[in-house]
Amino acid sequence: MISYSDYLQLLPKTELHCHFASTMTAPLFLELAAKYGVQLPTTYPDELFAFDDLRDFLVAFRYAHDVLREPADFERVAYEGVRSAVADGNLRYREYAINPQYFAARGLGYRDVMDPLISGLRDAEADFGVGFRIIAAINRRESPASAVAMVEEAIAQALPEVVGIGQDDLTPEDTEDPARFAEAYALAGRHGLLRTAHVAETPFAQPSAVRDALEVLGCERLDHGYRIVDEPAVVELARERDVVFTVTPVSTTICSGWHLDEHHRIRAMIDAGLRVAVSTDDAMFFRTDLGREYREGLAAMGVEADAAKAIALNGIDGAFCDDDTKARLRAEFTAAFLTLDAVLTPA
Ligand code: ADE
Ligand code: ZN
Repeated sequence: MISYSDYLQLLPKTELHCHFASTMTAPLFLELAAKYGVQLPTTYPDELFAFDDLRDFLVAFRYAHDVLREPADFERVAYEGVRSAVADGNLRYREYAINPQYFAARGLGYRDVMDPLISGLRDAEADFGVGFRIIAAINRRESPASAVAMVEEAIAQALPEVVGIGQDDLTPEDTEDPARFAEAYALAGRHGLLRTAHVAETPFAQPSAVRDALEVLGCERLDHGYRIVDEPAVVELARERDVVFTVTPVSTTICSGWHLDEHHRIRAMIDAGLRVAVSTDDAMFFRTDLGREYREGLAAMGVEADAAKAIALNGIDGAFCDDDTKARLRAEFTAAFLTLDAVLTPA
């Protein structure tokens, strides 16, 4: 028989919301920083990854991209990141957000970034059976015109692995303001790219950002969205549209300051009938991993086995992959649930 903690650890999982740079391990980050002579404020992980809030974290997130320069760096981070997540949380499928604009500023073009990323992820898929898709993410610090140019490039390159767009970071005014990028989203939608966006993530964000992302941007899925529970009409809208929210329990405690317990907004979202799927967001920076997000995050919010299984399945339903891949994952997950349910120690 196994404990509930082991059960959560062993559940098969997808991850729909992680940023590529954040899938690096700390030792690899330090190794690459040394390789390129990138000066870090400190090499002690406890200090390097100590953040006061989202803005503080985003500074480190931006400079972390500076250690990814050569194709071998992308390939290695991609491959090793999958290997770790399989070991740390039984990852079975993953979607990566990556911001081409961060790399453009460092002289790397769209294909300089995507080709080695895809090559590393393909190698990992061959070795670990973990499928993947990629989301080209708009950096909100950049202009709407730059976002449109990035989406135009994604459309022109038409890589089958790049299936959607997202938006993250904060605007130069430190707001979310998702509708600022409406033109880029409309363009993506017209060309069959699926759409997600980071919204309503912290106490400083607005629940109306969820409405804007759904009604103005046409998002099929959303990242975070926690402030939605302050606006019942928006909850209703998201329920009607059956939106899946990618939520990141442990990571979010640092960015939002909300305590992780049974009163947490993620739990309130579940209780309100919204669909959530659990991810790490920025595993290296927040010293978390996919297993921990389930084991500690879900357990701290009082989420029980049936809800945990539903969350794992939401991570399939909300994925931006084809129906055959989803059907295969569903069959694999439901078979694993039967095995795990049979050995779970009753509460
Ligand atoms: N970029 C990486 N992680 C992020 C987060 N949690 N919020 C906004 N932008 C991000
Ligand atoms: Zn994120």
